[in-house]
Amino acid sequence: MKLAVVGCSELVTLAGPARARTGAELRELAIIRNGAMLVHDGRIERVGPRSEIAIDKDAEVIDASGRVVMPGFVDAHTHPVFAGNRAGEFEQRAAGATYQEIAAAGGGIRSTVRATRAASEAEIVAAASRYAGWFLRNGTTTIEAKSGYGLSVEDELKLLRAIARIGPVRAVPTFLGAHEIPDEYRGRREEYVELVIHEMLPRAAPLAKFCDVFCEPRVFPVEDARRVLRAARGRGLGLRMHADQLENGGGAMLAAELGAATADHLEHTDREGIAALARAGVQPVLLAGSVYALGLRQYPDARAMIDAGLAVVLATDFNPGSSPTPSIPMILSLAATQMKMTTAESITAATINAAYSVGLGGEIGSLERGKRADFVIHDCADYRELAYFFGVEPAKACYVDGVERFRR
Ligand code: NIG
Ligand code: FE
Repeated sequence: MKLAVVGCSELVTLAGPARARTGAELRELAIIRNGAMLVHDGRIERVGPRSEIAIDKDAEVIDASGRVVMPGFVDAHTHPVFAGNRAGEFEQRAAGATYQEIAAAGGGIRSTVRATRAASEAEIVAAASRYAGWFLRNGTTTIEAKSGYGLSVEDELKLLRAIARIGPVRAVPTFLGAHEIPDEYRGRREEYVELVIHEMLPRAAPLAKFCDVFCEPRVFPVEDARRVLRAARGRGLGLRMHADQLENGGGAMLAAELGAATADHLEHTDREGIAALARAGVQPVLLAGSVYALGLRQYPDARAMIDAGLAVVLATDFNPGSSPTPSIPMILSLAATQMKMTTAESITAATINAAYSVGLGGEIGSLERGKRADFVIHDCADYRELAYFFGVEPAKACYVDGVERFRR
């Protein structure tokens, strides 16, 4: 099965060194004007200017008609398996309540846990499939997908099985049993941590690639996070962390100590934390959507992180509470206006750098010979429009492994 993609005003390849990009490299998108790409059996075979690409007679020709073609976005931090939503809490926050107040009163993550436990696996898969459609409309072809709204052995396994059934976007599964302390363990945090380590992890590990912990002084402080993550590593999982989101509780320092793949959020990380992440080669995953949707002001210090040589990643944090958006283009807009990142830097952060952060840098995240043909035709002629226009769903067509999965 051969495809020839032609008529690309800009073929944004992200070709470059076979590793996550840092510093000035973040601005190098390796764009080919009037580019063309040949795909064979789901893999990229040739990429170059149209004038230099010979198109096989038996190839199906896809004409981008003067639009931008680029790798599908890789959304490296999402929580897509849950039931219900929290539109009511969103309204309460508009009326002045804070995220922490709502959580302390039994709402927040715990309210989604109650709804999710009451739902069947099939209902969770149906909801996640609807969200998968939203990701595609915004140009995302791979998501990292966390469990974390089950918080019992059976319910966490139900969510990991649901993640395995998400499609047609590619989903990388992460076990997040330490997301919150469920109702029945209130006041017994240590016992819940034991449950996560001794009962959940052994059964969840075969279904997951990474383990994450919501490391926050008032939820799982660093001592708990360290124990869970060490146990996860012992079971062969890569490590990710929700770190320093609501206050600086030493999350970034722990991610550095453990050599985690990523430290996510980092709104309250200080210079020392940033320097530690740099020394340890941990990738920061910045989640501007949650700052925005919580109505907060303090965005992570992306410029300091780029200056420190960190291989920055941007993601949506799609979830029913703090960040109900599946839109990487919206995140590109926030990255420009609130974190002073250029559109080129943001696109690198949401494609090749994100791919490396989920362990798939050799397979996806750029359009290079041998890689999987996960690409998107966007309805614009200049890639910078992706961050500039906001509130639109820019994808015209999405391909995963060379198969068309969305077209409007
Ligand atoms: O990344 N803070 C922890 N996890 C999510 C929020 C989940 C929720 O509110 O349901 C986050 O912001
Ligand atoms: Fe999150």
